[in-house]
Amino acid sequence: MFSRSAIRTLAAPSSRLFSSSSARQTKVAVLGAGGGIGQPLSLLLKSDPLVTSLSLYDIRGAPGVAADVSHVDTASEVKGYAADHLDEALEGVEVVVIPAGVPRKPGMTRDDLFNTNASIVRDLAAAVARVAPNACVLVISNPVNSTVPIVAATLEKAGVYDPKRVFGVTTLDVVRAARFLAGVTSSSPSETPVTVVGGHSGATIVPILSQSAKGKSVSGEAYEKLVHRIQFGGDEVVQAKDGAGSATLSMAYAGAKFANAVLRGLNGEKGVTTPTFVKSPLFADQGIDFFSSNVELGPNGVEKIHPIGELSAEEKKLLEACLPELKKNIEKGKAFVA
Ligand code: NAD
Ligand code: LMR
Repeated sequence: MFSRSAIRTLAAPSSRLFSSSSARQTKVAVLGAGGGIGQPLSLLLKSDPLVTSLSLYDIRGAPGVAADVSHVDTASEVKGYAADHLDEALEGVEVVVIPAGVPRKPGMTRDDLFNTNASIVRDLAAAVARVAPNACVLVISNPVNSTVPIVAATLEKAGVYDPKRVFGVTTLDVVRAARFLAGVTSSSPSETPVTVVGGHSGATIVPILSQSAKGKSVSGEAYEKLVHRIQFGGDEVVQAKDGAGSATLSMAYAGAKFANAVLRGLNGEKGVTTPTFVKSPLFADQGIDFFSSNVELGPNGVEKIHPIGELSAEEKKLLEACLPELKKNIEKGKAFVA
């Protein structure tokens, strides 16, 4: 079934998705592990050499997913937890990834998910506060612009909030930007990394193509189309799935990639920098206290928040459109917990 070279690749200690420079024991939990994202994400985390123990929780199906994933021949231990066993699932966990909650259907915005997902995320964050108050929390559940402030406010209410340890996962925007820019410039995505700042929904997603060697060559209609595709890539998947949900496989890839970056930072690797939605001083003077920009990750989570740097005239306009919407989304999340 596999060629010799494919077998060599499969047997290699780390793949292109994962980078591992040093070994350390790390227990990771996935809350929502039975879902469209949760299942492939759990599989990818099982393949990450930096994960030594995997704790899979869902209100439906997690023990089955755990039994399945646990047969993969990597060193990590896997355990599944059914509903009512959330606290056990979180014991000793250092990194919690949250993809629990409902996905969009065609015609919906991410904000339309707020009424259902806000309380799911709040309750999971309350459990993290109780059982694993020092864990890094990686929030995938939408609307990320609101669910991250909800997690932060819930941890704050419990007296355990560390802004360095709460992250909104915006990696899918970064993955899409690199892939789509590679497409329009006939390059490889490895040559087209793009910094994406702001938040994670439509106009709040701001790709900074002017700071990319390949990206700055794209102009006019091609530029407009590329920006639109990066901002609304999620809609493409929602429409194509036609009522069966939103991005799951590319999101699992992006979530595993971001979790690996956090783990490398926790392991003390220097220079691990990627965009993520965190408590940020960059626009706090405008009342926007969460923002995604390049963040260096370290042993305590956030090590350094980088400024967004020089923007082109078009990008300044994109940022102008982003900020008021982002502010509303953040306030809605905070108000929910208050
Ligand atoms: P899904 O419906 O396939 O899976 C969600 C899972 O969450 C289900 O298994 C469900 O049982 C579980 N769940 C519900 N309530 C729970 C609770 N209280 N505790 C634990 N688990 C619970 O949905 P999906 O496609 O996996 O998407 C999940 C979320 O991720 C959605 O909100 C979606 O919008 C979001 N998402 C975010 C990004 C991003 O870039 N950040 C990308 C894609 C999807
Ligand atoms: C995405 O960007 O694919 C996710 O946020 C899911 C969605 O609702 O589009």
